[in-house]
Amino acid sequence: MLEKFKKHLEQNFPKVQSFHPFFNEALAWMLEAGGKHFRAQLLLGIVEAKAPKLFLPALDAALAIEFIHTYSLIHDDLPAMDDASLRRGKQTLHKKYDETTAILVGDALNTEAFLLLSRLNLKDEIKVKLVQTLAFNAGINGMIIGQAIDCYFEGKALNLEQVEFLHIHKTARLIAASLKMGCEICELSQEDSEKIYQIGLKLGLIFQINDDIIDVTLDTKEAGKPTHNDVNKNSFVNLLGLENAIKTKDEMLKKTQEQIEQLDIDIAQMLKKMIQMYL
Ligand code: IPE
Ligand code: IPE
Ligand code: MG
Ligand code: MG
Ligand code: MG
Repeated sequence: MLEKFKKHLEQNFPKVQSFHPFFNEALAWMLEAGGKHFRAQLLLGIVEAKAPKLFLPALDAALAIEFIHTYSLIHDDLPAMDDASLRRGKQTLHKKYDETTAILVGDALNTEAFLLLSRLNLKDEIKVKLVQTLAFNAGINGMIIGQAIDCYFEGKALNLEQVEFLHIHKTARLIAASLKMGCEICELSQEDSEKIYQIGLKLGLIFQINDDIIDVTLDTKEAGKPTHNDVNKNSFVNLLGLENAIKTKDEMLKKTQEQIEQLDIDIAQMLKKMIQMYL
């Protein structure tokens, strides 16, 4: 599944015909750097489990998620946000080129994602649902308000409830949306899809807590991005201390795994595999 996605991604970098000397190269720069493709794999995992015949359109939907996620990282690394010079083991776009290019490549990946969804070989009704799910969770009700709070409250301590709100919005909603979009492609019932979305929110929160832990436990080379970079952030580690952040993560994971056991067996198996690999 992952290999198929990587191949699909490589063959579908966004391109534009123009006389700009390097814009296409810049569009591909961060996409070709790889990353875990965690969110794309969640969508594909659901489709592989429940409607494998729809794997081809699902590849494009997964690509749309990867575009949105990569745009969020390109903008997250800008000097106005986290000011990072390394991402996925490569120079960030604004270092390799300039800030203008980084902003515009982010904008491009954001819009291309929705163009891709609009062109999927699926019923219009399903495509509208996918567009709504992605726009809702990546937009102001999800990642954007999360990132806005993350940046605005740098150096100003939030309480546990507020940090959870921050993490759920900036990271968990897009992760949960990836699962939900898989459910929508498979036309699972509203009830099943909602159950899986709720588990996605929990996994997404755990994913961001783990990312906060990575910031203090890995070195830059291992992480492929600057670590020890969250000093002024409202991270789980800064709030609870490393030991308690790890403990909280383990407890949340245990509870979520119990809920996963109640799901459809194929979906549960896929989620357990993803947890084992990435959390
Ligand atoms: C990093 O996401 C940003 C977070 C929301 C934690 P990933 O850890 O999924 O980054 P890549 O895609 O593997 O590079
Ligand atoms: C980024 O969170 C979340 C996004 C929505 C991009 P971080 O700022 O913690 O991600 P990293 O650590 O730079 O990958
Ligand atoms: Mg950030
Ligand atoms: Mg960052
Ligand atoms: Mg981080």
